[in-house]
Amino acid sequence: MRRDGQVVVSSHRLARQVLADRERFSAANALDAVTPIPTDALRELARHRFRLPATLANNDTDSHERIRAAFGEVFAPANVEALRPWLTGLARRTAAGVAWRLRAGEAVDVDAAVSSEVPLAALARLLGMEVEATAEVKQFSRAALELFWGEPSPERQRELAALVGPFHARLRAWTAGSSGATRAMLDEYGEDAATAALFFLLVAGQETTSQFLTLLLHRLVEEPELLGAAPAAVIEEGLRLLPPITSWRRVVKRDTDIDGFAVRAGESVLVWLAAAGADEGVAECPMKMVPGQRGSRRHLAFGAGAHRCLGSQLSRMEAEAVVAELAPLLPRCEVVAAPVSDPNLSFRMPSPLVLRLRG
Ligand code: HEM
Repeated sequence: MRRDGQVVVSSHRLARQVLADRERFSAANALDAVTPIPTDALRELARHRFRLPATLANNDTDSHERIRAAFGEVFAPANVEALRPWLTGLARRTAAGVAWRLRAGEAVDVDAAVSSEVPLAALARLLGMEVEATAEVKQFSRAALELFWGEPSPERQRELAALVGPFHARLRAWTAGSSGATRAMLDEYGEDAATAALFFLLVAGQETTSQFLTLLLHRLVEEPELLGAAPAAVIEEGLRLLPPITSWRRVVKRDTDIDGFAVRAGESVLVWLAAAGADEGVAECPMKMVPGQRGSRRHLAFGAGAHRCLGSQLSRMEAEAVVAELAPLLPRCEVVAAPVSDPNLSFRMPSPLVLRLRG
């Protein structure tokens, strides 16, 4: 139960218990760098006034509820639902573009053409942000995930800091001219907090869904019979067995125990979300992808408790639109390059999925 200095929790019951228990387990370590960042990389970040004060996922203070409520309004069910026609149109145009290129004999990087485009465009629309260059945002967000959750060498950490720092500075500038929830946050909690919230949202609010889509589309090309089910049911099983966030952390607040296992104040607890979804008793066939099976929605892909993901409805809707539009095409495709994951504690970090039409 202890591995590499962390307490590891993998059963569904205990994972849910730890995530939901704010009295004993804090979310304050959620964004702590897994590989300590060396001084020169920290200096590079500081040069761009990079700061990550407690705002959303890492906020165990009294301000969490208010900040969450402010962004909760942005991602409120009615706002997300109102995006559906636009999102369907975007997914349809994207799928048509992929189909056209495939038919022309091209091998298509679906990660770049589909998975990277749709979630970022939807997030930008909801937040009222202008995103001209998807590739640039993706480079920054992948760099942030590698810097904070990956295993980069000190040299690589310096490179990553040189990507993340300047982008954070641009977010700070954007925050200053923002409106809506970001503006309200700026007025109440100051520039550092508003920028940090935006930083987290821009990374977690699209990179998760992108990585999920790439992994799920790969699975669907390999097992096209899954496409016989409704897209929503396929996505739920995907979230249960291929969650893009494989683990999430909490920190122990006071000496206590997890189901009789003693843990000390200050220890990090790694909640293994991917294992929890496949745990015995969660679904009828826990290890097998069976869209629509009983228990399919009981996964913990979006966490649990006070910090449960604010974007669950949005990411489900995005994935559903993409899968529905690509469904006729996928059974006619074959894999040229399958996604391979980089080492990372919490994120899948798949390499591109490249497809071509079957000969
Ligand atoms: C498949 C896609 C996604 C997955 C699997 C995912 C997963 C998660 C997880 C595991 C957490 C931590 C929950 C906890 O601590 O208990 C989280 C938090 C969060 N997610 Fe997501 N997420 C996804 C997409 C999104 C999107 C699209 C957005 C926004 C547009 C978003 C916004 C947030 C926010 C704001 C938090 C922090 C909430 C808080 O601390 O109160 N996520 N997400």
